[in-house]
Amino acid sequence: MTAPDLPAELKAALDTRLQGLSRTHAAERAAIISKTYRDGGGSAAIRTETDALAYALARMPATYAAVVASLNALREIAPDFAPKSLLDIGAGPGTATWAAAEAFSSLQSFHLVDANRALRALALDLAGGSARLRDLDYRQGEARGALADAEAADLVVASYMIGEIGEAERKALTELMWAKTRDTLLLVEPGTPAGYARIIAVREQLIASGAHVAAPCPHDGQCPLQAPDWCHFTQRLPRSRAHRLLKSAELPFEDEKFAYVALTRAPPAQRLARVLAQPVVTKIEVTAKLCTPDGLDIAKLPRRAKAAYARARRWRWGDAVTITTGRPGDPSTPRLRRGHDGGPPKP
Ligand SMILES: C[S@@+](CC[C@H](N)C(=O)[O-])C[C@H]1O[C@@H](n2cnc3c(N)ncnc32)[C@H](O)[C@@H]1O
Repeated sequence: MTAPDLPAELKAALDTRLQGLSRTHAAERAAIISKTYRDGGGSAAIRTETDALAYALARMPATYAAVVASLNALREIAPDFAPKSLLDIGAGPGTATWAAAEAFSSLQSFHLVDANRALRALALDLAGGSARLRDLDYRQGEARGALADAEAADLVVASYMIGEIGEAERKALTELMWAKTRDTLLLVEPGTPAGYARIIAVREQLIASGAHVAAPCPHDGQCPLQAPDWCHFTQRLPRSRAHRLLKSAELPFEDEKFAYVALTRAPPAQRLARVLAQPVVTKIEVTAKLCTPDGLDIAKLPRRAKAAYARARRWRWGDAVTITTGRPGDPSTPRLRRGHDGGPPKP
């Protein structure tokens, strides 16, 4: 599985560019850009070379980690998937392209699209030092226009992008992205209720067009979660010194919350249950909230079911896991007890 920290050559390229920069100015720009995002604005606030670099230094490690985590989940479900071509929509500084290149050694061609001139320039500059990525093709323009005559790709990715466009535009772009997907379309969004809602909307739209869900859901049915609950995951990533300085942060790591969906043309060969929150481990049992092919469940794995208990102790939020439904009275296999929307299981 791919590690969540930026590849060494990308880290080095960012650090080199930071050297010629006033850290105070970069931190100010990063703060303004972050505030614009928090207030619902998009990447339009990123206009200059410094803005693009400040954005990349502040956000690229976290969005990279979220894309890597989503690709790792996809690879677990589809271990034979070996895409040759990538289309990265709303590519910005090239984050998802770097992540996909790390995750799939099979990738040979990289096509990126973005409306933002400053981010495109930075992406080309960063990729220039990479033997693998230096020949990437990066179109500048509105996604729909730029995609219209683009060739279809095995893997299409839009990471932290669809939140920047309106609903009607998103629907049209979703249709176009799917039309350009030969095998798998991956969408990654912030792990907020709003990010999840966008993921669910795309998921529903494309299932209606014949898509299947490879991850995180082990089914193509309606999401069983009900508000105020929402499906999201978290990825811990290291913070470099530059990253900490730019964000005036103390901790040497941060946790990125994200939501994602990987949609495929063919149904996935396996459907594993997904752990939807960090399991609670006590000396008596492990309790885990799972999305299963049959819906939402709270798995109770008692300590007396030794092997299952030992396995479940290692489960982490976001993992795909195999569960065995035990027979009543059989302590050797776990019992699943259907809960309601993550609430306490019914007796
Ligand atoms: C938050 S950034 C994410 C960048 C990158 N995918 C990442 O994960 O780091 C969103 C990107 O989407 C691009 N974008 C938003 N709307 C777009 C559109 N209609 N056409 C093309 N690019 C768009 C922005 O310019 C920006 O680079």
